[in-house]
Amino acid sequence: MAIRSERHVALVTGGSRGIGEAISRRVAHEGASVLVASRSRGDCERVVESIRASGGTAWPLALDVADPASIAGALEEARKLTGPFGSIDWLVNNAGIAESAPFTDEKREARFERHLATNFHGARRLIEALVPGMEARGYGRVVNVASSAGLRGYAYVSAYCASKFALMGYSLAVADELEGSGVHVNLVCPHYVDSPMLAQSVERLVKKTRIEEAMAREFFRRSNPGGRLVSMDEVAGAVVHLLRGDEHGAVLELDGGAERRLRHPNRASEVAR
Ligand SMILES: NC(=O)c1ccc[n+]([C@@H]2O[C@H](COP(=O)([O-])OP(=O)(O)OC[C@H]3O[C@@H](n4cnc5c(N)ncnc54)[C@H](OP(=O)(O)O)[C@@H]3O)[C@@H](O)[C@H]2O)c1
Repeated sequence: MAIRSERHVALVTGGSRGIGEAISRRVAHEGASVLVASRSRGDCERVVESIRASGGTAWPLALDVADPASIAGALEEARKLTGPFGSIDWLVNNAGIAESAPFTDEKREARFERHLATNFHGARRLIEALVPGMEARGYGRVVNVASSAGLRGYAYVSAYCASKFALMGYSLAVADELEGSGVHVNLVCPHYVDSPMLAQSVERLVKKTRIEEAMAREFFRRSNPGGRLVSMDEVAGAVVHLLRGDEHGAVLELDGGAERRLRHPNRASEVAR
């Protein structure tokens, strides 16, 4: 029998700032208890304190998703922290890095390794560690934060694109395997989001091209098909929509326009506008 707890326990990776912070707050606002995880426990604590101050339940968790030993240790700690609240039944794989360089750059081997370890293997290992328990309980939700860079290529971020395409393909394969299990796996694919990661990209573009900061921001804004940057809260809203609902194998593309696109690549090329 499927056990569907009214009080969910969520793990949000990369919860210490940016999109992950917005997701953590939104998930807590939904009444779920949330483990706010990233490499910097101090930054997670800041987010946790503010969630608790508004009446939510949250715990900070030190976790480096690129390191299998850190994942094992963090999940052990998570079990102790969440004890009476139950097992993690909502997993949001949001932690990510994005660096830019030409595809032939001399430091490419290490760069590819870093991107794949964080953006792909991190999410994969957490899914492998947590989904079997969800399956046994007959209920679980996994939302992976991919990117429009998992749907198309962008110049100078080949490692980032490769890692996000890997995450897309893997997630859709796992979703197919989990059909009927009660564990639903979905993805969100935002275009450029107004977050600290984008601020870094703006800084890099300014340094490289010597254009004004405002022009660099304008470049990213205009690159979004919808003509504006996606807000962190929009991404958080999309993630919570997928956690709460019964979609499975869906890809929610957020392009900065008024409309959202929900595709189910495993079914047909179904696109809702
Ligand atoms: N910003 C955009 O335009 C955009 C667009 C599409 C998709 N996304 C995706 O959205 C997600 C969040 O991006 P963001 O814009 O919020 O980036 P951000 O502001 O740079 O935040 C990244 C988060 O990931 C954490 N993190 C990085 N490496 C980690 C690791 N090895 N282990 C655990 N946590 C790690 C960081 O915390 P610590 O440094 O403390 O570990 C931080 O909390 C990423 O997956 C990104 O690819 C972003």
